[in-house]
Amino acid sequence: MAKPVLQVIIGSTRPGRVGPAIAKWFYDIASAEGTFEVELIDLLEVDLPLFNEPRQPVVKKYEFEYTKKWSETITRADALVFVIPEYNHSFNAATKNAIDYLHQEWKHKPYGIVSYGSMAMGVRAVQALKPIFTALRLVYCGEVTIPLPLVPVVDGLFPGNEVLENGAKAIVKELTIMNPPLKALRESGAF
Ligand SMILES: Cc1cc2nc3c(=O)[nH]c(=O)nc-3n(C[C@H](O)[C@H](O)[C@H](O)COP(=O)(O)O)c2cc1C
Repeated sequence: MAKPVLQVIIGSTRPGRVGPAIAKWFYDIASAEGTFEVELIDLLEVDLPLFNEPRQPVVKKYEFEYTKKWSETITRADALVFVIPEYNHSFNAATKNAIDYLHQEWKHKPYGIVSYGSMAMGVRAVQALKPIFTALRLVYCGEVTIPLPLVPVVDGLFPGNEVLENGAKAIVKELTIMNPPLKALRESGAF
């Protein structure tokens, strides 16, 4: 039987970003756990313009091909992990823009957050993202917050450490537990 799909979404899009290195670190840990087919999704490649759909996403009547493609991508996900930087005490705008494009595609899916920043470790990015996902009815399955000055990306590679790795594994474990009941809920037609 095919494994459920876990999408690891790289939120940052700027030249020189460290997001892909951290996402690859999480991808390797999640893949080794073996419970999901893990996909890396890069918002730089998704390349959405600043939100410009004429209708509210809740009605799911999209005008543009890029939105339809983005919708198909997220529809495929059984679970999601957002790898987000802290920008100005929040998460970055490209991530919010990509979230705003869709609505039903997010609903009743389990998610985790891997956040990073300076000494505040991306905690404020996590705190900013959570109420948005609560409104969209995603189900929180944990977070890892990374202080880049202490655990930096070197030559495009993020080494992590034991504490962070245990946190990453805990997210995957919780996503694995929450996936079957939430999938059943989504398929029940109750919503
Ligand atoms: C626009 C901008 C704002 C930032 N604001 C914060 C901040 O509020 N708190 C923090 O800890 N780090 C902040 N940083 C540092 C970033 O977390 C750090 O540069 C990180 O590498 C950004 O992720 P990225 O390389 O994937 O883009 C900021 C960086 C940028 C580019």
